[in-house]
Amino acid sequence: MPIETTNYIWHNGELIPWEKANIHVMSHVVHYGSSVFEGIRCYAQPNSAGVFRLPEHMARLVDSAKIYRMPLAYTAEELCAAVVDVIEANGVAPCYIRPIAFRGYGEIGVNPLKSPVEVYIANFPWGKYVPGNHGADVCVSSWNRLAPNTMPSLAKAGANYMNSQLIRMEAEVNGYDEGIGLDVNGHLSEGSGENLFVVRGDVLYTTPLANSVLNGITRSSILQLARQLGITVVEQALPREMLYICDEAFFTGTAAEVTHLRSVDRILIGDGTMGPITTKLHKAFFDIVNGLAPDRFNWLTPVKVKVEEAVGV
Ligand SMILES: Cc1ncc(COP(=O)(O)O)c(C=O)c1O
Repeated sequence: MPIETTNYIWHNGELIPWEKANIHVMSHVVHYGSSVFEGIRCYAQPNSAGVFRLPEHMARLVDSAKIYRMPLAYTAEELCAAVVDVIEANGVAPCYIRPIAFRGYGEIGVNPLKSPVEVYIANFPWGKYVPGNHGADVCVSSWNRLAPNTMPSLAKAGANYMNSQLIRMEAEVNGYDEGIGLDVNGHLSEGSGENLFVVRGDVLYTTPLANSVLNGITRSSILQLARQLGITVVEQALPREMLYICDEAFFTGTAAEVTHLRSVDRILIGDGTMGPITTKLHKAFFDIVNGLAPDRFNWLTPVKVKVEEAVGV
């Protein structure tokens, strides 16, 4: 998907022109994948706009940096304020926001500690990630997710996305919308950029953090909504075949939002349409982010921008 440019990018405390946000080819991150980042959405509500769970995203960025011994010169609160500044300076909402911290131009060699940490925040308009409104046709990937104690999956690190790229490319080359990775023990893990939920009977299941998943902010929002709606929620290791016998399945993620799965490995899930529990959660989620229901969990950070037609709904 081509990137629609905006005027400014936030860099180490300053707003700089989009086209000046460049790095040297010898920067550490280019060679060794030493970056941590976030993906955040700013939604349009009637006559306003709000960033979805901004403090939680910035807390995860700080956690990711901590895992990689990457000192950030900014607190989570300062980074939240920077996100609001860059959105308001660019005047673009709804939009997608991409904060990234990485090891810049310093030394060659695997050890990153002598290379400076650079922080950038960009925002730009962005639409749907998993194509099709009629549900995603997905496969179980031949690639496993990250093994425990190799690449930490609770860090949202750029290098983890080499694994995601393998899963996603294989899926698309074989005619699927997305792939689901298994963990090293063969249990369900997650999509290349989405957490996974399945429904069987009236129980909602999702894979736990120990099965090599990212601690998704949308995942935790859906768990919160489900509990509030009185849906029984179980976080447990799930066998692959659960995907073939479940009644409903869906992905969650900042990009994918709540996307129901129509089929897995060409086996139809239910009748292929969005099932009742997914529909309930999908509606509850979009009602809040689109401002059709009160923001009862305080999920939205307001930004002062004139809004255009909502994207990704
Ligand atoms: C691998 C992976 N899993 C899950 C998610 C969903 O996380 P979130 O809901 O915080 O966007 C993402 C997206 O960031 C991801 O890249």
